[in-house]
Amino acid sequence: MRLKPVSIGDITLKVPIIQGGMGIGVSLSSLAGAVAKEGGMGVISAAQPGYNLDEWKKDPLGANLNALGEHIKKAKELSGGGVIGVNIMRASCDYDKYVQCCVDNGADAIISGAGLPIELPKLLEGTDMKFAPIVSSLKAAKVLFTLWERRYKRVSDFVVIEGPKAGGHLGFTADEAVSLTKEQFDSEAKKIIDYVRSYGKNLGKNIPVFFAGGVFDRKDIDHYLALGADGVQMATRFVTTVECDAPMSFKQAYLNASEDDIVIVKSPVGMPGRAIRNPYVRLREQEREKITHCFRCLEKCDPATTPYCITMALIRAVRSESEADDSLIFCGENAFRLNKLTTVKEIFDELNS
Ligand SMILES: Cc1cc2nc3c(=O)[nH]c(=O)nc-3n(C[C@H](O)[C@H](O)[C@H](O)COP(=O)(O)O)c2cc1C
Repeated sequence: MRLKPVSIGDITLKVPIIQGGMGIGVSLSSLAGAVAKEGGMGVISAAQPGYNLDEWKKDPLGANLNALGEHIKKAKELSGGGVIGVNIMRASCDYDKYVQCCVDNGADAIISGAGLPIELPKLLEGTDMKFAPIVSSLKAAKVLFTLWERRYKRVSDFVVIEGPKAGGHLGFTADEAVSLTKEQFDSEAKKIIDYVRSYGKNLGKNIPVFFAGGVFDRKDIDHYLALGADGVQMATRFVTTVECDAPMSFKQAYLNASEDDIVIVKSPVGMPGRAIRNPYVRLREQEREKITHCFRCLEKCDPATTPYCITMALIRAVRSESEADDSLIFCGENAFRLNKLTTVKEIFDELNS
C-alpha cells in the first residue's frame, strides 16, 4: 500500500520520508536531489560542504557557504523542483551564516540537531523557511517549544525524533545508545509525538513528526506510523546507493561491516557517535591525536584536549579511497544489513508499495 503524503505548511512531501543529513560530504546535492525527485525530502549536510574546494583550507567558511549555496541550487534542479532541506548542526560555528545561506539560496527547510536550536525562529524571521529540531527526549521538545513560543511566538513546522539506533552523533549517553532497545524508546517517542500533536492542536497548527534511527524497511515505517508519527527520517539505507555523494570506499565499508564492527565512539562534539570500528577508530581507542591545525568548526571543541580532529577524520572518509582506513565512518546500527549497491528509486519503490 502506498504511504500517505504529508504536508508541512504549504509544502507537501508526496512520500513521507526525509533522507537524514549526513556530514561530511555524504549527503550533498546528488543524494538529496535524487530523494526529492522520488517525492521525499532530500537533505544536504551543511557540515563542511566545501571540503573538496581548493580555497577551503585557507577560507573554510567562505568555501563552505559557496558550496552549500551551489548544492542547494543543484539539488533543486536535479529533483525537478522537489523538496530540499539542509541539516545544520547547532554545535557548528557560524550557525547563523549557514542559516542565512539556506534562505538566500532557496532551500525549503532547515533541520537542526546536535544541540538545541533555540534562536532559529529569530534567525528565520520574515522568511517562510520551514524548520525542525532533532530531539531525543520529551524534555528537549518541551524546552524548545516553551522557549520558542515565549520568546518568538513561533514554534517549529515539523519535528524529527531521533532514537538510539541512529548514525552519526546521538542525543544519548554511550551506555544508553548501546542498551536502549527500540521498544524501550518507543514509549518516549510516543510521549514526544503526543506532546507535539497537542501543542499544535492548541495553536491550530499541524506539526508533523518524523521518527529517525534504525528505520530500515516498510515494516519499520508502518510501526512508527502506528505509533502516531507522520513519517520517518532515514539515512543509513541511502548510503549504499549509486547517488550517495560519498566515494565507493565509504559505501564498501558499509557493505563489508558485520554487526560487531558497529560501535559507539567519543566525539569532540561532546556527544557519542556511532561508527564503523576500522583501524582509525581502534587507534583512537589507544591514544589521542596530535592536532596541528584547527578549522574552528565546532563552538566547544578545544584543540588542546580534543581526542581527535573530527573534521579531518570525517573528510578523509570521503576525500580519497585510499584514506578509508584512516578515517571516521559514521553509520547507523543497521549498516551491517546492507549487502548491495542500489538506487534511490529502488529504495522508494520498495518502501512505497
Ligand atoms: C554517515 C552519517 C552521517 C550523519 N551526519 C549527520 C549530521 O551531520 N547531522 C545530523 O543531524 N545527523 C547526522 N546523521 C544522522 C542522520 O541524519 C539520521 O537522523 C540517522 O542516521 C537516522 O538513522 P538511520 O541511519 O538508522 O536511518 C548522520 C548519519 C550517518 C549515517
